[in-house]
Amino acid sequence: DQADVRGLRAGRLQVAAVTTTEYFLPELLGPFAQAYPGIDIELTVENRDAVVRRLREGVAELAVMMLPPTDLPLNRWPLMANPLVLVAPAGHPLAGRRSVPWSRLIAEPRLAREPGSGTRLATDQFLAHQGIDWQPRMALGSNEALKHAVAAGLGLAVLSRHTLGGDATGLVELKASGLPIRRHWQVVWRQDRRLSRAAQALLAAWRER
Ligand code: PGA
Repeated sequence: DQADVRGLRAGRLQVAAVTTTEYFLPELLGPFAQAYPGIDIELTVENRDAVVRRLREGVAELAVMMLPPTDLPLNRWPLMANPLVLVAPAGHPLAGRRSVPWSRLIAEPRLAREPGSGTRLATDQFLAHQGIDWQPRMALGSNEALKHAVAAGLGLAVLSRHTLGGDATGLVELKASGLPIRRHWQVVWRQDRRLSRAAQALLAAWRER
């Protein structure tokens, strides 16, 4: 039948995504999964370094990330905006101020994602570009651990606004010049490998969204 001719009746599709996408990417797989019930989808969720490794080794056909590596031949397609915001615990004295000077912010401890994280890399690049020296006091290996550490009053952190979810997280966004850091997620795939029919179909589904 049609699906079989197009190589979509059975098969396996491996997608690698960075951790900040776990709040919305599963539901973006829904229409594709419904349209092609014979395709087994495997979505891995790891930090940027691990996603780059999967692309390099050819394990994942498609990857979703903010900062694709520059040393691999990749096609890219922009998926969604990913603003990075500075957060403090609710009730922090700097909360609600119209704009906080960076000289004041860096007097607070900075908490950050682990080295290897794209969130960490984008934040470090932003601070370096602005000439702001604000080294992390502590590194935390997940968005949730980072949010809990900020909410517990251990320090301030920059993270993807999409990780904040609804309300009642105990966190507030702080305003400062240059914020939010405007980035976006991209779907990337290797230029030097042929995309499977399944991967092509998922890309098409996302493009039509
Ligand atoms: P991370 O990646 O999960 O490695 O922080 C975030 C991103 O690249 O958008």
